[in-house]
Amino acid sequence: MILIPQITLARPDDARGIAEMSREHIEYGLGWSWTPSRVLKAIQEPATNVAVIRERGLLPGFGIMRYGEQRAHLVLLAVAPTHRHQGLGAVLLAWLEKCAATAGLERVLLEARADNPAAIAFYGEQGYSQTGTVPGYYLGVVDAVRLEKPLWGPFGRA
Ligand SMILES: CC(C)(COP(=O)(O)OP(=O)(O)OC[C@H]1O[C@@H](n2cnc3c(N)ncnc32)[C@H](O)[C@@H]1OP(=O)(O)O)[C@@H](O)C(=O)NCCC(=O)NCCS
Repeated sequence: MILIPQITLARPDDARGIAEMSREHIEYGLGWSWTPSRVLKAIQEPATNVAVIRERGLLPGFGIMRYGEQRAHLVLLAVAPTHRHQGLGAVLLAWLEKCAATAGLERVLLEARADNPAAIAFYGEQGYSQTGTVPGYYLGVVDAVRLEKPLWGPFGRA
């Protein structure tokens, strides 16, 4: 049986769980900047989508994307270790990208920790190209790799 993950917009009461996943899986070693109140603000922001996967009352994955005039910015993305390598990260990212493409945006930008080769490999698989590095981007401690993906090719949507 193929299970299709249910992706929805986050509710205000998801903020704590999302923030805790960010602290544990993304911000490790860097303090905690995506606190529950900051995630709650993102949930309430009109130009930001906070998407979650729900499974039996749990949130095994989430992603946050901000939508600008021409570009979208993937802010955070994480899948719980128990649920990795099942395609959930790819499905979440595609869902957020589809919103950007539907809004007519040209590209998605993101930064990944340079010390996180798994994430960089994941984004490469999803069609992202590295465009540079930013020394000390994370609190002056960890460098970032910048990546981007066009949503429109020369003949229309990519
Ligand atoms: C990066 C992350 C979101 C990927 O989620 P996931 O659900 O495991 O990814 P998917 O199953 O959709 O992977 C799709 C493809 O990406 C690549 N990929 C995923 N994880 C990878 C890894 N650890 N190493 C190399 N390639 C990887 C593979 O090609 C994979 O396809 P495959 O499983 O058929 O080989 C997840 O590992 C994670 O949450 N990591 C911690 C948080 C993080 O680094 N977030 C990103 C920066 S904000």
